[in-house]
Amino acid sequence: MERRIPKHVSIIMDGNGRWAQARGKERVYGHFEGVESVRACTEAAVEEGVEYLSLYAFSEENWNRPAAEVETLMGLMMKSIENEYETLMRNRVRFVVLGNRERLGAALNASIDTLMEQTAGNDRMTLVVFLSYSGKWDILQAMKKAAAELGAEGVQRLGIADVDRYLVTAGIPDPDLLIRTSGEQRISNYLLWQCAYTEFVFTDILWPDFRKEAFRAALDEYARRDRRYGKVK
Ligand code: IPE
Ligand code: IPE
Ligand code: MG
Repeated sequence: MERRIPKHVSIIMDGNGRWAQARGKERVYGHFEGVESVRACTEAAVEEGVEYLSLYAFSEENWNRPAAEVETLMGLMMKSIENEYETLMRNRVRFVVLGNRERLGAALNASIDTLMEQTAGNDRMTLVVFLSYSGKWDILQAMKKAAAELGAEGVQRLGIADVDRYLVTAGIPDPDLLIRTSGEQRISNYLLWQCAYTEFVFTDILWPDFRKEAFRAALDEYARRDRRYGKVK
């Protein structure tokens, strides 16, 4: 029987700091090495026929980290955007950034917009990077957007399926599989609404060590799951 492939795989990329500290290095080395894992998992996802790969790269709460670390992470994002253009085009990957873009610098926002425009026509896979994102922020901005667009009476007529349209993930299917690395087993304010029926896979592997083989193992685990959606089978 053919292995069931999730349409949308999402990853909470965690454990960079611990990976570096275990080697007696500064936390930022873990972030540098983590970029290699992003590349490996993107390639593996394309090879496996995943349609959407989304990555939690920076949470709203992560702004509370030391300024130097925040700066390194933003710089790394900028550099990755500059470096990855060719790989994305070769693999026909569409690049999308979602989150509270107002908190990002003008230069980074401009680079993001450029790469999003350049890759907009790519049709093999969509790579979504969540930057300055949190699930509660997303739900709140959706409420505000819906209220502004529909007014008080219109909001009263909203159905559950209509809410999707106002979340920043509008048009993107909910994750089928959510992977979190580094042994932590929590959602950390990630896709709260969208993960209502997502399958979770937790692994002790630290993000810089999470490469193609580990990604495929998570897909194997997903294929063994029985998704019942509250029904009886
Ligand atoms: C994940 O690794 C990267 C981000 C959250 C930006 P961490 O930096 O959280 O690494 P640990 O959890 O401290 O090891
Ligand atoms: C979650 O990791 C956020 C990202 C991976 C971007 P954290 O390391 O920030 O999460 P907590 O603080 O351990 O819950
Ligand atoms: Mg962490």
